[in-house]
Amino acid sequence: MKLPIIAALAATLFSSVAAADTIKVGVIGPMSGPFAIHGKNFKAGIDAWLALNGNKIGDNTIEVVYRDVPQPDPAQSKALAQELVVKEGVQYLGGFMFTPDAMAVTPLLKQGNVAMVVMNAATSAIVTKSPYVVRTSFTTWQTSTPIAKVAFDGGVKKVISLVTDYGPGVDAENAFKAAFTAAGGEVVESIRMPLATNDFSPIMQRAKDSGAQGVFAFLPSGPTTLGFVKAFNDNGLKSAGIKLFGPGDLTQEPDLPALGEAALGMQTTFHYSVSHVSPENKAFIEAVGKAIGNPKDISFTSVGAYDGMYVISKMIEATGGKQDAEKAVDAVKGLSWTSPRGPVSIDPESRHITQNIYLREVAKADDGSYYNKETRTFEKQGDPGLAAAK
Ligand code: PHB
Repeated sequence: MKLPIIAALAATLFSSVAAADTIKVGVIGPMSGPFAIHGKNFKAGIDAWLALNGNKIGDNTIEVVYRDVPQPDPAQSKALAQELVVKEGVQYLGGFMFTPDAMAVTPLLKQGNVAMVVMNAATSAIVTKSPYVVRTSFTTWQTSTPIAKVAFDGGVKKVISLVTDYGPGVDAENAFKAAFTAAGGEVVESIRMPLATNDFSPIMQRAKDSGAQGVFAFLPSGPTTLGFVKAFNDNGLKSAGIKLFGPGDLTQEPDLPALGEAALGMQTTFHYSVSHVSPENKAFIEAVGKAIGNPKDISFTSVGAYDGMYVISKMIEATGGKQDAEKAVDAVKGLSWTSPRGPVSIDPESRHITQNIYLREVAKADDGSYYNKETRTFEKQGDPGLAAAK
């Protein structure tokens, strides 16, 4: 009789010890430098989730540790991920603004028994690099496909495509071209710009010379998008009646005051707008506004991080806090919830987020401020880029 009691006692003792752990989440993002607004939004989104939900999952306590990769730097991202897994003992990795930084970490996941939640990086192929990757952001295939139809239906038949020459730009170029030509339009020229480009005048001249009625553009959101949209205006394309289209990276809310009239009326398609009207977004904006300090700094990267924390919380719940990346990822396949951006789910096959994509137009509010006004919804969009990524 004695032995089973001792065994049972030991089992309870063991499980209660195992359950009362600190579960570390390592977040890699641009915490400083030219893209620091996005590191700030990762942190604010995560802090908002913790403020609204607490840091306890059962008896386990979540602790988030941050590492800074200011610009795309796969070697630095990999080294920091290794340090987080081996020295910090993180069970989960999150964040990842840039595609190359996310790609560089995927080979470490299986060996480290670590699940990774991509909170921004938007190249379709990332989820195919490891079964332990889940993404709560978007892909540029997802966000660039609907704008092609909008451009064509709006009477624009000839477009020049201008994208940054790396993963998400190449995906955006292919996505736009596929949808625009299927609709009956023509992409007259496709130009890929180096990541470091900040003088856009020569490109704008080429766009003017191409005879296109519209420009399709993708650049990673930050100082380059700001410079690009300004250059479009300053080089006379807007006043010549040429239309600028793109996914919403081009008109992220923190840039709107500086863009002002240059962006007014611009149409973009995206998964999230700060102005989205819903009770969930109202609560989110309040919490994320407090976390970030200045609500004018809120950008789309906050929602990817906020939903990423929800996914990680479900993973911790399913594993009881034990490190089991496969079980953690399995638990969120098919998970659906109402995000501040609208209804979303994790596609069980791709582990990428299915979501609404909204058409928005840069509008002026009564108080003179600019915002992305949602005007149309493309419901339940999966990632059309996955077939291309295989
Ligand atoms: C990416 O590197 O995948 C990326 C970065 C910034 C964006 C979108 C995608 O705005």
